Amino acid sequence: MMRKQIAAANWKMNLTLQQGEQLINDLLAKPHSLKENQQAIFAVPAPYLMMAQEKLGNKERVAVAAQNCYSKKSGAYTGEISVEMLQSIGVHYVVLGHSERREYFNESNPFLAEKIDICLANGVTPIFCCGEPLQIREAGKQNEFVGTQLNESLFHLSAADITKVVIAYEPIWAIGTGKTASSDQAQEMHAFIRAELAHQYGKETADQISILYGGSVKASNAVELFAQPDVDGGLVGGASLIADEFVAIINALK
Ligand code: 13P
Repeated sequence: MMRKQIAAANWKMNLTLQQGEQLINDLLAKPHSLKENQQAIFAVPAPYLMMAQEKLGNKERVAVAAQNCYSKKSGAYTGEISVEMLQSIGVHYVVLGHSERREYFNESNPFLAEKIDICLANGVTPIFCCGEPLQIREAGKQNEFVGTQLNESLFHLSAADITKVVIAYEPIWAIGTGKTASSDQAQEMHAFIRAELAHQYGKETADQISILYGGSVKASNAVELFAQPDVDGGLVGGASLIADEFVAIINALK
């Protein structure tokens, strides 16, 4: 099985409902080609999930994602969103462990392991984010750092379950900074992540898992990044808010 190549938009906390609808309309009006092994995913703010699902839910090779969910099934957790709620509106993907959530909302590796578990138990695909801060990269300790994130949040999973996870490597120093990792730096880390997966689950399983790169992906660098053998697409912030940019990023998938 050839692993999926994915262009994922992360709108973060941007756009009004009207602007979001306009962006999706603009995207749908542009020529794009999603081949059989390719997919476009839209992680939109929670209040817009149903709108996005209505506009995109019936499109082939297109999916809508939440940007977060909670680790508990239901109950007295004011303001949180459950996996069951996502399921009930037809949303089957969720971004988990984005560095912004780790930093501003103190999400830890063990807490994310709980979120991963409840998603997989309910048939929702986590897009699990990992990646190191600048000082770790400067100290040359990025592999150790990302290895620990994988270990503590994912490696308790069975081989069958790990193949249902999408991994996004997002070096924090490249997010929103305009400073992209070079394609060599991206490939090097993606190869490391795949080697860790292979070590834990075997090569055949590791080869099935999509590993996306995130951090200042733009139309102008997507082709080179996505051409790397272990880079299976991108998780895109800023450039996903511009229709022309994101369509070009979709069209840059292998
Ligand atoms: P930018 O593409 O804006 O750097 O954001 C990357 C990101 O965090 C996607 O989740």
